[in-house]
Amino acid sequence: MKTHTRTVWWEDGKVRMIDQRQLPLVYEIADFTTVEEVARSIKEMYVRGAPAIGATAAYGMALAARLSPATDAQTLLADLKQAKATLDAARPTAVNLTWATTRLLHRAEALAEQGADVDAIRQGLLDEAERLANEDIEINKRMGRYGAQVIPHGANIIHHCNTGSLATVDYGTALGVIRAAHEAGKEIHVWVDETRPRLQGARLTAWELMRDEIPMHLIADNAAGLLMWQGKVDVVLFGADRVAANGDVANKIGTYKLAVVAQENGIPCYAVVPTSTIDLSLPDGSHIPIEERGWEEVATVFGKQIAPDNVPVHNPAFDITPHRYLTGIITEEGICYPPFTESLRAAKERAEARIRGELE
Ligand code: MRU
Repeated sequence: MKTHTRTVWWEDGKVRMIDQRQLPLVYEIADFTTVEEVARSIKEMYVRGAPAIGATAAYGMALAARLSPATDAQTLLADLKQAKATLDAARPTAVNLTWATTRLLHRAEALAEQGADVDAIRQGLLDEAERLANEDIEINKRMGRYGAQVIPHGANIIHHCNTGSLATVDYGTALGVIRAAHEAGKEIHVWVDETRPRLQGARLTAWELMRDEIPMHLIADNAAGLLMWQGKVDVVLFGADRVAANGDVANKIGTYKLAVVAQENGIPCYAVVPTSTIDLSLPDGSHIPIEERGWEEVATVFGKQIAPDNVPVHNPAFDITPHRYLTGIITEEGICYPPFTESLRAAKERAEARIRGELE
């Protein structure tokens, strides 16, 4: 079976992506041809994972420009602002979404200021979306190289959710570090948290690791504490949807418990994030919006009800890991260590200088 590893891409005026809701049993490509549909692809999790959501939203902005009937730049900018609001509302926690739509809108505004006509702005936005998506792959590979340095030879790594090719444009964040360590011949083994309730670990991470022949075992989330206590875990790795200025991290529900048990057992614990996931506007994790998802994710399994009729359900999709539980935060600009308030700001500034072309 020929399968794409790239999660989302632009083709013939459409935003195309792997339908992650159906993996690993069915591999299907889904097409989205309006801004509202692209927003739906994010909300309904055809595509998920913070960097992949960002790239999808960038293509959504390029699509909005193409579909706008505007004949002057100001009308086009007004249509783009409306599209941005539609896309930004799709999911609240991953800051990469608004980071990407803001970058695309700023690009359109800059082009308009330079006197570009509507067709030039349309082309400029498609080029910017492609640039953002391709940069994501490069950034993941850089994070992989930095992160592999802290992975000991023969390490047993525990990993939560899916942070691989499927959560990004390709390669992955925490899974990118795992890939890089494997490619460097470190003979690692991965404990894959199943990640209830949507099973991103069992469905997506296990699929990616097995395709790459990286040694792994799938575990129930509740097995993690025992394995750490038994000395069978050397490193904890996960990604993030948003990192506050003080280093508090929002990630898939269950991450906090992993980090606390890791510290209790003296196990190093790293978040792996592109600098686009760092939100310096929020002082700490208490300000990060936590998405609440539907009851059916908890009370049903693949459409089959497993709890009593009308059971009340509370389903927060993310939790906050306070920064004191993190050994470090691995970014494409190097590994940030405490005090995170300083190291994260410095990483973000280096990344911005790199985008401006001031760094190699
Ligand atoms: O709800 P999801 O599947 O979008 O959640 C994804 C995660 O929590 C990932 O760990 C996070 O986005 C980082 S992935 C590079």
